[in-house]
Amino acid sequence: MRRKTILEYETVSFDPEKRALVIIDQTLLPGQVRLLSLTEIEDIWEAIYLLKVRGAPAIGVAAAIGLYVAAEQIDTVDEELFYQQFKEKKKYLETARPTAVNLFWALEKMEAVVKKNRGKGVGEIKKLLNREAMQIHDEDIEVCRRIGEYGLKLLNSGDGILTHCNAGKLAAVKYGTATAPMYLGQERGYGFHIYVDETRPLLQGARLTAFELAAAGMDVTLICDNMAADIMKKRLVQAVFVGCDRVASNGDAANKIGTSGVAALASYYRIPFYICAPTSTIDMTLKSGSEIPIEERKETEITEMWYEKRMAPENIKVYNPCFDVTEKELITGIVTEYGVAYPPYEESLRRIFEKKFE
Ligand code: MRU
Repeated sequence: MRRKTILEYETVSFDPEKRALVIIDQTLLPGQVRLLSLTEIEDIWEAIYLLKVRGAPAIGVAAAIGLYVAAEQIDTVDEELFYQQFKEKKKYLETARPTAVNLFWALEKMEAVVKKNRGKGVGEIKKLLNREAMQIHDEDIEVCRRIGEYGLKLLNSGDGILTHCNAGKLAAVKYGTATAPMYLGQERGYGFHIYVDETRPLLQGARLTAFELAAAGMDVTLICDNMAADIMKKRLVQAVFVGCDRVASNGDAANKIGTSGVAALASYYRIPFYICAPTSTIDMTLKSGSEIPIEERKETEITEMWYEKRMAPENIKVYNPCFDVTEKELITGIVTEYGVAYPPYEESLRRIFEKKFE
């Protein structure tokens, strides 16, 4: 029997029989494809915290389905009591990771359903929560496809494209954000050459992006993070496409650590640098990137993980921020599902939201 490729598995979904959130355990990729069915809120929290499910859009979808799964288990018909317990569960999931705003965006959307439908009874509210979570899931596919269409217009056949971390199908439901133009280009015979930064310390580029793009039959070349300048100098790439975890209203964008270094190099070598961001990743409440909370992670991710032996001296001091902020000046454009925003971003992002709410 033919083995399924990674592209045929859903990154995040809901199992109506088990009443469970289902995810691919991304910490095991590319060696092993294992699906996890999660029904306990502690396991859902841990899956997000440990990056079993990761990437801003996928975190949002997982949080929405996860909160629904947990809310369905609240055993009361008293609406007030239901709402109290719902809020506690929502608050708990909010603490799983701080940077990707999609987590908070999705949980807020879920709470809005409860608030809007008070008086309809707990049973009906649970049904509506299910509908909302599935809508967040389904919309992600369409949003990413539209980002792909706008992104593809910025590229030419045969282009070399550099990407960092994983803003792919594994970070969303389908297509991904930064990879959406690559998937659409692949379907339409653009013949792109994709360069993938391995992305230390957790190797999302090597383990996830290289894996899924190669499974799609693309021409993929994996490089170490410190090779980006070399391939730019040699003109092997004509554009950089990355995803992001949160964009501030002035256009500053937080993405996986190392992104701002790639952007600075691209600026030096005059290579266009695009951020791909669904509007759910744009936080118009923040004035600039300095307000984006940046997650710091365990030092063992740098000193021990992925190697059998310790690879750094005992007791060495370690700094391990998970994300960095790329200044708006280094960003050529922000590709959203409503078009491409260009500087000055205060205005162009505002127009993107006007279009969204038209
Ligand atoms: O720590 P991770 O793996 O969740 O970080 C993911 C990224 O930084 C992605 O580039 C970002 O979330 C965009 S995903 C479409």
